[in-house]
Amino acid sequence: MSSRAEAFDHWIRTAFVEMNTELEELYFSQRDRASVEGVGHSVKARLRDEGHRYIVDLLQEGNTGEGFASGFGVLGNVGLYMGALRRHELTNPDRDQRSPFTEASSLALHVGASIGMAPRFATVHLATHNLAIAGKRKSFTSLDDESLFIDENTRAILGFQRTADALARIVPLGVSSSVADVLFQAAKDGLRDVIKANDRLFQRLDVDRFFFSVRPYYKPYHVGRQVFRGANAGDFSGINEIDLLLGLCRANDPYYAQLLVDKMSFMLPSDQARLRECMTHRSLLDELLLAAEEHSRADWFQRNARAFLEVCDLFGRTAAQHHDQLVSRFIIGPAGSLDEQHLQGITASGPPLPVLVRSLEILRDYRTAATRNDLDTRHDDLARLRAAVERGA
Ligand code: HEM
Repeated sequence: MSSRAEAFDHWIRTAFVEMNTELEELYFSQRDRASVEGVGHSVKARLRDEGHRYIVDLLQEGNTGEGFASGFGVLGNVGLYMGALRRHELTNPDRDQRSPFTEASSLALHVGASIGMAPRFATVHLATHNLAIAGKRKSFTSLDDESLFIDENTRAILGFQRTADALARIVPLGVSSSVADVLFQAAKDGLRDVIKANDRLFQRLDVDRFFFSVRPYYKPYHVGRQVFRGANAGDFSGINEIDLLLGLCRANDPYYAQLLVDKMSFMLPSDQARLRECMTHRSLLDELLLAAEEHSRADWFQRNARAFLEVCDLFGRTAAQHHDQLVSRFIIGPAGSLDEQHLQGITASGPPLPVLVRSLEILRDYRTAATRNDLDTRHDDLARLRAAVERGA
C-alpha cells in the first residue's frame, strides 16, 4: 500500500468511525430516529471534507499499480466514505442527477474498473476480506450492533463457502464415489454453522439499532452518473454455487440467471470465476435422479442420496431462517412504522420493499423446494428422489 493509501486507511479506521458514531447517536436520540437531514451539520461537513483531502491526494497519485490487494483496499475505503455520505443524506439518488463527489467517484471508477469490480464498497470489504489490525476490523461505527452484524454475517458467509467448497469437490469424484461421504459431511457442518450464526443474529441483534443505525449505510448511491445498488450479505458466490450444485436453482431459469448476472460485479473476481465454473456442471440432484432407477438399491446410492437430501434440508433451513426470521424481523417489521418519505431507499437493491420481499420469497421457495404453482421449484424432483431412496432401502 502507498503511504497515501495507508493514511486514508488509517483515517477510515479511526476518525471516520468516530464521526459516524457521533452522528448515529444524534439521530438515535431523536423522537423521529429516521430524520437525518439538518442534524449534526458540522460533524457531517468534517467527515466530508477530511475524507475529501485523502481522496484528492490518492487521485493525484494515480493508480500505483501495486496489485489487486492495494486497489481492492482503496476501493473499499472510498466506498465506505461514499456510503457514509449517502447515509448522512449529503447525497441522495432520489434528488441528485449525479454524485456531487466528483473526485471520490473518479477514484472509485478508476480502481473498480482496474480490478474488475463495481465501483463501490462491496460485502467482501466488510466481511471475508476485512483485514483486522491488532484485532480490529473496519466498520462504519463503533456500535456493538454493527460489530455483531458484520461478524455474524461473515461467519455465515464462511459457513456457506465451506459447504460450496465441499460440494464442488464431489463433482470430479462423481456422485457415486465412496469418498463423497466426507464431503457431504463437511457440507452439512458448514450449513449447521450458518444456522447458528443466523440464530445469533435473530436472538441478539437489536431491531431498532440495526434498522436505524446500521442498515442505512447499505443504501444505493451514485458513483459519477450511475446509481449502484447497495451491498448485501449475499454478494459472494458460495450461496449460488450451492444453489447450482445441489440443483435447487438453475442457471437457465430467466429469473435466477438475471440475479447471477446482476451480482457478478459485486463479487471478487475469484468468486466470479468460481460461479462461472459452477454453471458448467450438471447438478447433483440431476445426477442422482439419472441414477435412481438403476441403482436405488446400491449402497453408494443409499448413502449418498440420503446425505444429499440432508444437505438440501439444512440448506432449506438457512433460507427459511433468512427470510422468515431475519428479513421479517429486521426489515419488514420496522419498515411498517415508517412514513412514505422515509421508506424510500430502505433496501440495498433499491426496489420498493414489497417488490424486494416478493423476490426474496422466490429465492426462499426455490431453496426450500416449496410447492408453488407459479414457480418451477424442485419439489417434485426431490420427492422422486426421496421415494427412490425409500424404495431401495
Ligand atoms: C440481520 C440480518 C439480515 C438481514 C436483515 C438481511 C436482509 C436482507 C435483505 C433485505 C436482502 C435483499 C437485498 C436488498 O436489500 O436489496 C438480503 C439479501 C441477501 N442476504 Fe441477507 N440479511 C441478513 C443477514 C444475512 C446473512 C447472515 C446472510 C448469510 C450469508 C445473508 C445472505 C443473503 C443473501 C445470499 C442475499 C441475496 C439474495 C439471496 O441470494 O438470497 N443475509 N438480505
